[in-house]
Amino acid sequence: MDVMTRTTRSPNGWTPLRLVDSEKAMKRWLIASLVANMLIIVTGAVVRVTGSGLGCPTWPHCYEGSWTPHPESGANGVIEFGNRLLTFVLIIAALGAFISVWLNRRAFTKLWWLSLGIGLGIPLQAVVGGIVVRLDLNPSLVAAHLLLSVALVVLATWAVTVARGVPADAVPPFMRYVVIGTFAMAMVSIVIGTLVTGAGPHAGDIDAERNGLSIPIIARVHSASAWLLTLGSIASVVLLRRGRHVRATRAAWVLLGTVALQGLIGYVQYFTGVPVGLVILHIIGLTLVTLAAAWLLFSTRRRSTATDTTVASSASTRRSTSASR
Ligand code: HEM
Repeated sequence: MDVMTRTTRSPNGWTPLRLVDSEKAMKRWLIASLVANMLIIVTGAVVRVTGSGLGCPTWPHCYEGSWTPHPESGANGVIEFGNRLLTFVLIIAALGAFISVWLNRRAFTKLWWLSLGIGLGIPLQAVVGGIVVRLDLNPSLVAAHLLLSVALVVLATWAVTVARGVPADAVPPFMRYVVIGTFAMAMVSIVIGTLVTGAGPHAGDIDAERNGLSIPIIARVHSASAWLLTLGSIASVVLLRRGRHVRATRAAWVLLGTVALQGLIGYVQYFTGVPVGLVILHIIGLTLVTLAAAWLLFSTRRRSTATDTTVASSASTRRSTSASR
């Protein structure tokens, strides 16, 4: 039992602090924060593909002098306003996580700055979202808005892996480089994906500017990056499996599975003229690829030279002991 649980448990039973005081509650808040950050990526895409990006044409008000949409803005206003309201869910989850982490800070020092980063990311995203609206959905800013959310999902995944308390698998330097390279490739693929979107038809509003890139060329670059990511994922599975790093191998398999699915959706949506339903599926896939790539990254760590030496010397001790028996 942790310190805070003891101090908040009253003989009369429940107090509101019980919602945040235990390590179990902390894990739940961090998972809620992770899920909320994944969800807002998907709802943001719904805003874009339904052409609702300017359903609320200004920020922070929806219309000048009004926080809520006008009836004449129709479904677009409701969709954009709904997405803005979701920010409050993110704030509640981040606050719950932050308070829980604070109450358990003695056991989890690293989580303190991670949950602070996740919490600060939300007002930052609200401001970037406001700038996106005020600059009429400039494609580079729309991309930056998405990429910031991807970074928050990575941070939140990190926080959840730390809170679970399962130590990362210590792997030899080469394996760790392959894992880092695979994670980096996932991020590169995501960045290039935003360039494809910036060139494509789903701008968020009929009059929004496009980035002017050639769709066939940038889509090819994007799919090439996806193939490199697939190779990295396969290499991670093979190496980690050979090294018998069971937990990390599982994470690598999950990444390979999500990448294969995401690639399939990507090709089908490209060759069928980017229908709205498949674009949303591709975005759900993006959140899962991000989660899986970050999980793989944080479930391994580089085996230190000292550990190598210890492992080597204990192996040689074992050998000489058995030889002398
Ligand atoms: C497997 C790894 C892949 C990842 C992680 C990935 C990720 C992404 C991301 C992040 C976006 C931008 C979404 C946005 O800005 O809202 C995107 C868009 C896109 N991707 Fe992928 N993608 C992958 C594979 C593929 C493949 C193999 C293709 C096939 C050509 C493809 C085709 C597209 C297209 C056409 C778009 C633009 C959709 C639109 O107009 O909104 N993707 N992808």
